[in-house]
Amino acid sequence: MTGSESANRVTVLNDANETSIMPRTTLRSHHLLSIGDLDSDEINLILDTAEAMKEIGSRTIKKVPALRGKTIVNLFYEPSTRTRTSFEIAEKRLSADSLNIAVTGSSVVKGETLFDTARNLEAMAPDIIVLRHEASGAPHQLAGICRAGVINAGDGMHEHPTQALLDGFTIRAHKGRIEGLKVVIVGDLLHSRVLRSNILLLRELGADVWVCGPPTLMPQGIERFGVHATTKLDEATEGADVIMMLRLQRERMQGHFVPSLREYFAVYGLTVERVERAKPDVIIMHPGPVNRGVEIASEVADGPYSVMLEQVANGVAVRMAVLYLLAGNPDEM
Ligand code: CP
Repeated sequence: MTGSESANRVTVLNDANETSIMPRTTLRSHHLLSIGDLDSDEINLILDTAEAMKEIGSRTIKKVPALRGKTIVNLFYEPSTRTRTSFEIAEKRLSADSLNIAVTGSSVVKGETLFDTARNLEAMAPDIIVLRHEASGAPHQLAGICRAGVINAGDGMHEHPTQALLDGFTIRAHKGRIEGLKVVIVGDLLHSRVLRSNILLLRELGADVWVCGPPTLMPQGIERFGVHATTKLDEATEGADVIMMLRLQRERMQGHFVPSLREYFAVYGLTVERVERAKPDVIIMHPGPVNRGVEIASEVADGPYSVMLEQVANGVAVRMAVLYLLAGNPDEM
């Protein structure tokens, strides 16, 4: 057999020179920088692989040798609870040698740049660098100078690809599909990297995506990404299959974007009454951290429709899948 690769599929010629199209079994890049770099086959490959990884997490001994002998550096320039912890657990479950570099305990505080830090880490031959950075595009620049694979664990206001993948995995687990679902994303749209990655993923997989927030937090021209945009929460949540709430990112705001948190909650906070406009089997999502009483009422965050802790649990399986597909030994599962 001979084969060639198109943008989306692997084309295979069999012995009779007939062509057949097979779903992808590998990713085209050894980096994960943006959801926009993945086609729908690659996204589905990651989500399918994550199903197998989730099974590993349910075993008594939650460890396989798929990344034995591989070195992974987790380099976080911004605070993180869920992403950093779940990458670390994923790396341990796959038997990688991993280390965490907290910027406050590194030579970054002495003025070393990201590039010099990366070049020095690179000299120690890691296989993967997982980077969270406050600057949009920092992982792309790192990928340009490193032999190691680079995973974007959140760059400024730009993207958070593994969050969108775990969100897609969670939606698929509840709804059995993503295509055709009404997915509503509400809150601080302007500063959200989770929004950007989710729009790319959900549109690639055929969801009907709505975004909703105050005019001051609505990115100009967002409809260009194939989404419906509204400032009216009741219009957005009407008949929704999925409601994803985003927090106000006050650490990225210069100036006042909302009159007060109390007034923001009154207009855009998700309450039990507002959830009732959605489909009866709606799921409520949030990437965390949650600001209770600002974007969401506690009764909703802790209520029967909330899948927030499932999102966190699925983050481990999805990050295992990404690490495995970028650097794993297929014979060592
Ligand atoms: N969702 C998310 O990225 O959370 P952390 O900032 O805690 O990693």
